[in-house]
Amino acid sequence: MLFCMKTILWATLTANGNYARSTPAHPPRPEALADFATQVGAASNFIVGRQTFQEFQSQPQRSATDAGAVFAQADVVVVSRSAELKGPAVVTSPQAALAYLRERGHATALLAGGERLHNAFLAEGLVDELCLNFAPTFEDEGLRLRLPPGGFERLQLLDSRALGGGVWQLRYAFVRA
Ligand SMILES: NC(=O)c1ccc[n+]([C@@H]2O[C@H](COP(=O)([O-])OP(=O)(O)OC[C@H]3O[C@@H](n4cnc5c(N)ncnc54)[C@H](OP(=O)(O)O)[C@@H]3O)[C@@H](O)[C@H]2O)c1
Repeated sequence: MLFCMKTILWATLTANGNYARSTPAHPPRPEALADFATQVGAASNFIVGRQTFQEFQSQPQRSATDAGAVFAQADVVVVSRSAELKGPAVVTSPQAALAYLRERGHATALLAGGERLHNAFLAEGLVDELCLNFAPTFEDEGLRLRLPPGGFERLQLLDSRALGGGVWQLRYAFVRA
């Protein structure tokens, strides 16, 4: 049976609006990671790009804490045009990722990154809500979440709250009426 499923794009941004990069030298804020675990717990799934998935796997200390527990209990969907991975479902397009979760009865799909996958979903108009955590960091040119050239969408602010450690969460819905 087909039913409506909401897609939430989850991302941590820097104070200058970049899509924050995670590196060993500059790991994500613990408050943002804890929020990711909370969001995954609520959705029971997440969709992730092949690059980000493999970055998670290469950081054993993170896998042992937040991501490890999350991976074990959630429906994890990796989007890749060609990768063969042991464990998660692998699909070849954003649409296929949503179809996979819809068929499994999920009411919400949580989109976890990275930059290219987020922008692919945004370009296809597949995102219903944004859950953005603004971390107190500032970067160089960095990564960007964006629509294709000429794109413009109106948003409605749904909620804002402090997550602690100087991280603020803003939630928006796309207004498409
Ligand atoms: N700030 C945050 O909240 C946050 C969260 C997660 C990650 N990140 C950051 O994001 C960066 C990684 O982003 P990224 O853009 O390099 O990688 P990514 O989006 O995680 O993965 C890119 C890969 O996903 C697949 N893919 C993407 N779009 C696709 C499409 N439309 N159809 C089919 N497959 C598609 C392709 O895999 P194949 O090459 O296998 O075909 C592509 O090479 C890192 O710096 C990471 O730290 C930030």
